[in-house]
Amino acid sequence: AIERTLSIIKPDATNRNLTGKINAKFEDAGLRIVAQKRIKLSMEQAGKFYEVHKERPFYGELCEFMASAPVVVQVLEGENAIAKNREVMGATNPANADAGTIRKEFALSVGENSVHGSDAAETAAQEIAFFFSGLELVG
Ligand code: CMP
Repeated sequence: AIERTLSIIKPDATNRNLTGKINAKFEDAGLRIVAQKRIKLSMEQAGKFYEVHKERPFYGELCEFMASAPVVVQVLEGENAIAKNREVMGATNPANADAGTIRKEFALSVGENSVHGSDAAETAAQEIAFFFSGLELVG
């Protein structure tokens, strides 16, 4: 089915001017960028977005990192977009990521791992609504 998923190009990648190279990976995989904006998250916004990880030992570090520099938030659309995006991203830890994936090519560490992607249909809908209004989604 045609799905939409929320993607974030993280501070380690925007700092290294990798937005275009990462977007090319999405487009080459057949994912269409139907909404996109570059924003700087506050600590509060980062904390709210990652609230599900609140009890994890890396939560504070994760929020500080996500608020440290601009991010590009985007909605990707396509056939099986949620799973396809996860394939294109590769494993969370770049040490475990397959060749050709975004994280294998660009990520620095499990924390500075260049991209975020929704993990399921329900979280995709929640995460898209966190950043975008319906008017901003142009299929
Ligand atoms: P993401 O898909 O954005 O969702 C939660 C993030 O937490 C994950 O990517 C990683 O970047 C980050 N993360 C997971 N494990 C660790 C860890 N051990 N140390 C720091 N960050 C982590």
